Amino acid sequence: MIPWWFSTPEPVIEEAVSDDFDALADLHERAFPIGWSADEISRLAAQPGVTVLKARRASYFGTRAPLGFVIVRVAADEGEILTIAVEPRQRGRGIGGRLMRTVLHRLYGERVASLFLEVDAANDAALALYRRLGFRKVGERKAYYQASEGDGGALVMRVDLAYRLG
Ligand SMILES: CC(C)(COP(=O)(O)OP(=O)(O)OC[C@H]1O[C@@H](n2cnc3c(N)ncnc32)[C@H](O)[C@@H]1OP(=O)(O)O)[C@@H](O)C(=O)NCCC(=O)NCCS
Repeated sequence: MIPWWFSTPEPVIEEAVSDDFDALADLHERAFPIGWSADEISRLAAQPGVTVLKARRASYFGTRAPLGFVIVRVAADEGEILTIAVEPRQRGRGIGGRLMRTVLHRLYGERVASLFLEVDAANDAALALYRRLGFRKVGERKAYYQASEGDGGALVMRVDLAYRLG
């Protein structure tokens, strides 16, 4: 049996602060063909209705670099995922799912009716994650992404929170 203190603790999800934005920009640059600077993330975070959540390893020895982050914007009773990215070496371990579930629970608590996102139709990992969380395709945009492994088509997806978490 592995002693409790030896096992890796589950990541903590919490609001990012301005000190995190350099690390988030770095992570974003490694996740997408077009990066966002720390200033761009900072300007986005200052907009009304925008929340930036990060995942970090729980540690007794201070804050560690973010493992992933998500940015969501809420206007009226609709939310939109603006971006989500997980550190390449940390993918496939449930961190993206944990970030998204935290967003869903928060928005449900704020009585947001539905959450939208756009995703490259060739992004299998992201599609697997979103479908598992109940997102369904509600629209399509042709030739939307310039740097795509597919034909650049985007899917617009939505989950209705009242039905999902009620
Ligand atoms: C999309 C992303 C955020 C997912 O983060 P993650 O921490 O790996 O997510 P999770 O581990 O919670 O779940 C990933 C799911 O994708 C699946 N997956 C991983 N790679 C896959 C692949 N190449 N093909 C199909 N499914 C894949 C996993 O099996 C898992 O699904 P499951 O739980 O049903 O088994 C991460 O891949 C990422 O940062 N990608 C680059 C940025 C990006 O594309 N963001 C989305 C923009 S819309």
